[in-house]
Amino acid sequence: MLLMPNFYQVGSENLSHRFDGTAYLLRGDDYSILVDCGTPLGYQKIVQNIKSCGVNPSDIRYILGTHGHYDHVGAASDFKRDYGCKLLLHKNDVERVESGDKLKTASAVLYGEDFVPVKVDTQLNGGEHFTVGEFRIEAIHTPGHTPGGVCYEVEVNGLKLLIAGDTINGGFSKHIDSNEEDWKRSLDILCSRHYDMMVVGHSNATLLCDADDRLKDARNSFANYYNPWFKRFDQKYKY
Ligand SMILES: [Fe+2]
Repeated sequence: MLLMPNFYQVGSENLSHRFDGTAYLLRGDDYSILVDCGTPLGYQKIVQNIKSCGVNPSDIRYILGTHGHYDHVGAASDFKRDYGCKLLLHKNDVERVESGDKLKTASAVLYGEDFVPVKVDTQLNGGEHFTVGEFRIEAIHTPGHTPGGVCYEVEVNGLKLLIAGDTINGGFSKHIDSNEEDWKRSLDILCSRHYDMMVVGHSNATLLCDADDRLKDARNSFANYYNPWFKRFDQKYKY
């Protein structure tokens, strides 16, 4: 689904599999980049979506992970095996994906699935820059949802786009090492910057064009109320 020239949503609950977080394709001339890549259950559909954007999956050089969760980088092992993509992830989330930790990757509790262990090719610290086509990308370390959360700031044609992952609207649990104070600091960092547009970790193919106001609202509403009645995906409820 085209969101702007050379920027596509290729994975999501609606586009690939109901377990998939959002996955974005940034198309360049020589190579392309994925930001997140969904689950193994949505893998084939995401590959199909990439091809329908006119991109050969073999031309995807990097998968930039927003964090080490099943719904975001669960299919990284498939992409690496079939297309030789390199996985980049913040160093704080590396151990959980390389060991296939079912709890810390949220694969078991939320989805009832295993996490296929995957080697991270490059560990991020935050502050790294990447270029693909006309896009200039900066990795911003935004811990809170998980310790290795990363948002990607994308500059294109004078506009700034934030790929926020689960730093906006993500779940909070001690089982995935969520940290409230870290998360507040991360939101403060995002609020101190200017963004023209934003996309988040779970949504339809939508560019949110009031990003600054949404980030401010997210910061103001964060951790004001805890909902203990969370409903798991893998169970049925009468009410
Ligand atoms: Fe997550």
